[in-house]
Amino acid sequence: MWIYRNTSLRNYNTLGLDYLTDYLVKIRTEKEAFEFFRKGNTWKKPVKIIGQGSNILFTEDYKGTILCIGLGGIRKEKVKGNEVIISAAAGVLWDKLVEWTVSRGLWGLENLSLIPGQTGAAAVQNIGAYGAEVKDSIIKIKTVSAIDGSIKYFDRDECRFGYRKSIFKTSEKGKYLVTRVYFRLSAEPVMRLEYGSLRNELKKGFKPDPSIVREAVIRIRRNKLPDHELIGNAGSFFKNPVLKSAEAAIIKKKFPDLPCYTEPTGDIKLAAAWLIEQTGWKGKRLGDAGVYDKQALVLVNHGNASGQQIFDLSEMIRKSVYEKFGIRLQREVEVVGLH
Ligand code: EPU
Repeated sequence: MWIYRNTSLRNYNTLGLDYLTDYLVKIRTEKEAFEFFRKGNTWKKPVKIIGQGSNILFTEDYKGTILCIGLGGIRKEKVKGNEVIISAAAGVLWDKLVEWTVSRGLWGLENLSLIPGQTGAAAVQNIGAYGAEVKDSIIKIKTVSAIDGSIKYFDRDECRFGYRKSIFKTSEKGKYLVTRVYFRLSAEPVMRLEYGSLRNELKKGFKPDPSIVREAVIRIRRNKLPDHELIGNAGSFFKNPVLKSAEAAIIKKKFPDLPCYTEPTGDIKLAAAWLIEQTGWKGKRLGDAGVYDKQALVLVNHGNASGQQIFDLSEMIRKSVYEKFGIRLQREVEVVGLH
C-alpha cells in the first residue's frame, strides 16, 4: 500500500485539474483492499474511490482520502464451446482489456474500444458506445465491502445496470469496492453494427475479426474525441436526455433535425451534443474552460482551467439548452466538492 500526504490530484483526473488531497492511498491487491477497509480503520473520511479519474470533476481540494485502485491481472476462467469466460481486476486499464480480448479473437468488448478509465469503473458506470454497453458482457462482479472488508459477489441482475449507472453508483454508492469483473465473451462472431457511423466505417464484406471492428471504432473516436493526454477532458460531460415518446414527439415537431434514438423501453434518447451545438456553445471557450470543437458534448481544459470554471461553463450550457428547448441536461461526470 502506498500512502501520500497532501499531494496533487493533477495526474489522477483526466481533466488535469490541480487540486490537493489530504491523503492518496494506492492499493494493489485484494488483501490490501481488505486491510484498507477492515473494521476500525482510521483513514481520514470521506474516502473516495477513483479509477483513472476519467469521469470526475474536482472543484476544490479534497479533505479526506482518495483511494486509487492498482489491482491488476486478466484471466481466462472457463471455455464452454464458443463461450469464453474471462475476468479482469478492477485496476486493469479498460482499453488494455479490450485489446487483450480482441487479440485472442474474442467478441463482446470491441465496440467499447479506446474508452478511458479502468475496468472496475467501467462496470460501475456501465460504459457504452457504438450500440454496446458493458453490461451486455458482464456476468458477475467481485467486491470488497467498504464497511468491513468482507468479500461479496453480485451477479448481473443484482447490479441493476442502467444508462451509465449501476447499484454501485446509486443505492449502494460508497459501500463496495469492485475488485474484479467477470465477462462472457464469444469465440464466434457476434457483431453489433446498428450504429450508423460504425457500419459506414467498416468496408463491405470485411473479415469477421473483432480487431477490425476495434480499429474502426478507434478511427471514429480519434476523429471526434480529444485525447486526454493532449487536452484535458472527461469524455461526454452530459448524458443524452431520455424522454417519454409523447414528450419527445412535441420537441421533434418543433425541431425536426434533432437526432433521436428509440430505446428498448420505447423511451426516446435525444442527442445532447446536437442540443448544445444549436445553442452556439460548440467550440466556445471561457478562459481555459471550453467546449470541444468537434464534439459539443465534451468539455475541455485548455490548460489552466479550474474545476469551478468548468462547472460554471457547464451550468451556462444547461441554462442555454433549457431556455431554447425546455430540457434539463444532467451531468454525466461526477462533481466532487461543495455546491
Ligand atoms: N452531434 C451534433 N453535434 C456534435 C456532436 C454530435 O449535432 O457536436 C450529433 C451527431 O450528428 C449525432 C448525435 O449528435 O447525430 C450523436 O452523436 P455521437 O454519435 O457523437 O454520440 P453521442 O450521443 O454524442 C454517445 C456517448 C459517448 C459515445 C458515443 C458513441 C453519452 C453521454 N455519450 O455520445 O460516450 O462514445 O455515443 O457511441 O451517451 C462518454 O460517455 O464519455 C462517451 C464519450
